[in-house]
Amino acid sequence: MIVFQTELHNEIQKILAEQVIVSTDAFVVERPVRSEHGDYSSNVAMMLYAQNRDRFSQPRELATFICHNLEQKKLNYLEKIEVAGLGFINFHISKSSLSDFCAQLVGEKEPLVEQTGEGKSCIVEYSSPNIAKPFTVGHLRSTIIGDAIANMMQYAGYTVHRDNHLGDWGTQFGKLIVAIKEFGDQQENEKRIQQSAEPMKELVALYVAFHTRAEQDASLEEKARQWFTKLEQGDEEARRLWKLCIDYSLVEFQKIYDKLHVTFGLKTSGVREAIGSSIFPESFFEDKMKEVIEELREKRLLTESEGAQLVFFENDAFPPLMILKKDGSTLYSTRDLATDRFRKEKYGKDILIINEVGAEQSLYFQQIFEIEELLGYFPKAQRKHVGHGMFRFKDGKMSTRKGNVIWLEDVITEAINRASVINAESAEAVGIGAIKYNDLKRESEKDVVFDWDELLNLKGNSGPYLQYTLVRARSVLAKLSQSFKPSQSPTLSQSSDFTHPDEENLARALIHISEYFSRAVAHYAPHELCTATFELAQLFNTFYATCPVATESDPTIRSFRTMLVRAVERVITDSFAMLGISAPVRM
Ligand code: ARG
Repeated sequence: MIVFQTELHNEIQKILAEQVIVSTDAFVVERPVRSEHGDYSSNVAMMLYAQNRDRFSQPRELATFICHNLEQKKLNYLEKIEVAGLGFINFHISKSSLSDFCAQLVGEKEPLVEQTGEGKSCIVEYSSPNIAKPFTVGHLRSTIIGDAIANMMQYAGYTVHRDNHLGDWGTQFGKLIVAIKEFGDQQENEKRIQQSAEPMKELVALYVAFHTRAEQDASLEEKARQWFTKLEQGDEEARRLWKLCIDYSLVEFQKIYDKLHVTFGLKTSGVREAIGSSIFPESFFEDKMKEVIEELREKRLLTESEGAQLVFFENDAFPPLMILKKDGSTLYSTRDLATDRFRKEKYGKDILIINEVGAEQSLYFQQIFEIEELLGYFPKAQRKHVGHGMFRFKDGKMSTRKGNVIWLEDVITEAINRASVINAESAEAVGIGAIKYNDLKRESEKDVVFDWDELLNLKGNSGPYLQYTLVRARSVLAKLSQSFKPSQSPTLSQSSDFTHPDEENLARALIHISEYFSRAVAHYAPHELCTATFELAQLFNTFYATCPVATESDPTIRSFRTMLVRAVERVITDSFAMLGISAPVRM
């Protein structure tokens, strides 16, 4: 499939070389904001003018020169090239090339995304909830956005290791153990957890109770620390209670992943395996932190401060990061370093690592990346933190400590209930699609104000709107052919005769799709994928209103429009595959 943007960029590059034009600055070929400026526009003359003043008196003159040379090349896909404004070059793609392009889009199964990942691997780490704490909306965001990024990377040719850095280690277990053992009768407590229909709620209640009581009784914190140390030392009772918490939490998490159709590592059976046999939770690194501490010591990166061990950064670029507490116990940071050291050993030093974790940890990740570069684990270019903003409900941020928790299952159930008003049969696909798209459609760093009406708005930029569009496209195709299967290659007679401006608008948008999709992958930005898909859906729905397809009596026009519908169907299908949104059969 031809990517006009790349073609034009290369053609300009060639001319610059042939005509010995000084070009040290980067220039772009982009889709202009206003469609009357053509399909593509380049700022090449404005970018390079300053370096070529001796030959050209103005950017426009340089633009005209490049334009003239391009015309000599007689590029068959161009209908018109013109110089505009202060020296932009605008390109108009010919109608016959537009329709050829659409036919290719339908006919070839070539991916819509530049295969930048061929022969490369990456780790996408997402979700990462904490055991014995609720799966928060933050973890939901990480799950949805991280899964989409993993899909996108895979689509771009990467081998993707999907990891879930479960928080199954740390001082919170000391707290829980104290609560289970000391708040009431221990056996009763354990029985209550084991027999409850909602064991997570029991665990969280104990966690909340711990914090309420600890406010009155400071000795509880100390006890919790001691229990965590026991856990670290392998104390049998501590281990047993820790395991209890893990088992009940995993069952709960798996329910959510099943609903969302999100998987990790390799798919096998059994709860732990289902979450992923090749995922590496925090506890996995329990015995792998020693090496990290040694390496930090060797490189003289650790400094003692009030008994604790910290890394201080050159010129105080970042605040110091604690690696060992004063009682010698390890921290979240210690485990992260051990995790990445392990990843280097397991997957090799060239692996790209993407962590989808709340934006509030962005400073933390900068500290970690810096330390890992100093340790020689990974250069920063191979590390990427994709942060997500907070979800805002009316009462602000949620806190497990205080117990004002929104249960995710409730949110999911409510979405499905509300979606059943749209269509009972597709309620689950639509409800979940709505939740996912709402998280994916905006820059992930931004906070989200949760609004059911926006989520399920069939006329706006929502999951249901796109699903509706896809169902519509497929039903047109089904009407045309009894044998239609989603995204099947067609046998079509092509015609370059656009008979309606809405056909042309649609085709002119389609030529940019793979550019947008490829850029979305390069930016690890599902929202760019959403924006492009939404724009296309809108143009398609306009086209649908003005251009009959199945009922069109002229066979040439009908066949040409069918091709456009197929192209749209294919694009949305692929976009959904990347976004992790399912296509309902009916709506
Ligand atoms: N469990 C952590 C939390 O809930 C997120 C872990 C993110 N990943 C990491 N490698 N630190 O905040």
